[in-house]
Amino acid sequence: MQQSDINSQLYQIFLDPSRRTRQVHKWHHYFDVYERHFGGFRGRPVRMLEIGVYKGGSLEMWRKYLGPEAQIIGLDIDPACEAYVTDGTRVFIGDQADPAFLRRILAEVGTPDLVLDDGGHTANQQIVSFETVYPTMPEHGIYMVEDTHTAFWGGDFADRYDGQSFLDFAFDRCRSLQEWTMRRNAFDRYGTPPDQRVGHPTPVSEFCRTTKSISFYDSIVVFECGQRAEPWHEVR
Ligand SMILES: C[S@@+](CC[C@H](N)C(=O)[O-])C[C@H]1O[C@@H](n2cnc3c(N)ncnc32)[C@H](O)[C@@H]1O
Repeated sequence: MQQSDINSQLYQIFLDPSRRTRQVHKWHHYFDVYERHFGGFRGRPVRMLEIGVYKGGSLEMWRKYLGPEAQIIGLDIDPACEAYVTDGTRVFIGDQADPAFLRRILAEVGTPDLVLDDGGHTANQQIVSFETVYPTMPEHGIYMVEDTHTAFWGGDFADRYDGQSFLDFAFDRCRSLQEWTMRRNAFDRYGTPPDQRVGHPTPVSEFCRTTKSISFYDSIVVFECGQRAEPWHEVR
């Protein structure tokens, strides 16, 4: 059985090394997930940040897949990755767990539409990068964290001061998605048309107001940005 759709152009770029000059390291089943969440951005002037450059092949792959109008930005702690800078593709060297470094990149290149965290995969790196970059993203943004199975590996990957793994963090964010609907005593309020409601809107977190969905796959978590308002239920 194929791990991803063999007809996908992205998967083909990975499978056929003659379509690249550098190596890429990915799990085969990730390609269907990439297609599902990144496919709609092809041929558009999107800005993609990939954390974790390694041999540079994935930057090349995203360039081919997203097209010439895309701005591809790589970030890696290994100074050797500077060698993978090309036209329209930039590489920044530093630690993804350093918020000041991340903010410098955002200030220099702008906020990304797409983020793929394929960096060091420790809990702290994943959480700090997410907490720094995600709140800056535009309404249509997609933030993807891969290799989240490291949450089960322990050891060096469990480096968070509070012992939280990225999956623990993501499960908590699932709870945040429902900050409106989890309030049973607000059920009647949400049964009133939004323009006829009286009193103050239910206070919810910024994350709740700006996140449409969280998708879980084997080893990948995807956050879809989007503005949301107080919900409305009705019998029609
Ligand atoms: C799995 S590899 C990236 C693979 C690449 N995206 C690909 O698809 O071929 C992980 C990369 O993360 C980098 N890395 C490890 N810790 C990091 C950190 N704290 N900040 C930034 N990059 C880090 C490593 O140097 C390595 O190049």
